[in-house]
Amino acid sequence: MIRLDKYLADMGVGTRQEVKKHIRQGRASVDGMAVKRADLKVDESSQTVTFDGEEIPYAAFEYYMLNKPKGVVSATEDAKERTVVSLIESRRKSGLFPVGRLDKDTEGLLLITNDGALAHRLLSPRKHVDKCYYAEVAGEVTEEDVRLFAEGVDIGAEQEERTRPARLEILESGRVSKVRLTIQEGKFHQVKRMFRAVGKEVLYLKRESMGALVLDEGLRPGQYRHLTEKEIEKL
Ligand code: URA
Repeated sequence: MIRLDKYLADMGVGTRQEVKKHIRQGRASVDGMAVKRADLKVDESSQTVTFDGEEIPYAAFEYYMLNKPKGVVSATEDAKERTVVSLIESRRKSGLFPVGRLDKDTEGLLLITNDGALAHRLLSPRKHVDKCYYAEVAGEVTEEDVRLFAEGVDIGAEQEERTRPARLEILESGRVSKVRLTIQEGKFHQVKRMFRAVGKEVLYLKRESMGALVLDEGLRPGQYRHLTEKEIEKL
């Protein structure tokens, strides 16, 4: 049971003070009855709260699947650049953050949530969560590259920095090669640095999946949707 003003503030209707005022003005109702008392106790698991006629279900966490477009940075706030969180229209934007980072010029799957514990689990290097990328690479990607990636490559600048074994699949090899790469880490610019380590340049990069979560192909770059109950369970 929680107070009605806290319930509505938690769901992003406004600050606690604003919400109290709205309730006094009669804009909230519980189980169909107008309520003007901010301290009314509500059972968030069974009662129906509405605000300005709109049902406001109580959810502790929000989960969005975004197809990140190019030109947007993986951050919550930035002084100069557009951020991935600014793309999400949510009443509760303040707590949202991206789980991990994609480079500004990378597209594809990005999970946006306010669930810190889940983010921690997905990003922990010890959990070895598979991240699968589609890439277009300048020049011919070869079976030798597949072998080298399977062993792990050194992507360090001054000091050696070895990657864990990675699975490289060649979809098309030519002047521009098309590949799928699965890694279990998330080192800074990892995919680009792995190809650089074998003398090649990534021209286009898109994340297709992260653990059990697969990018919905119906989402164009910049579009997003809520995760389904099933997807949340699988995470
Ligand atoms: N590896 C990269 O190089 N860039 C990304 O955005 C993600 C993985």
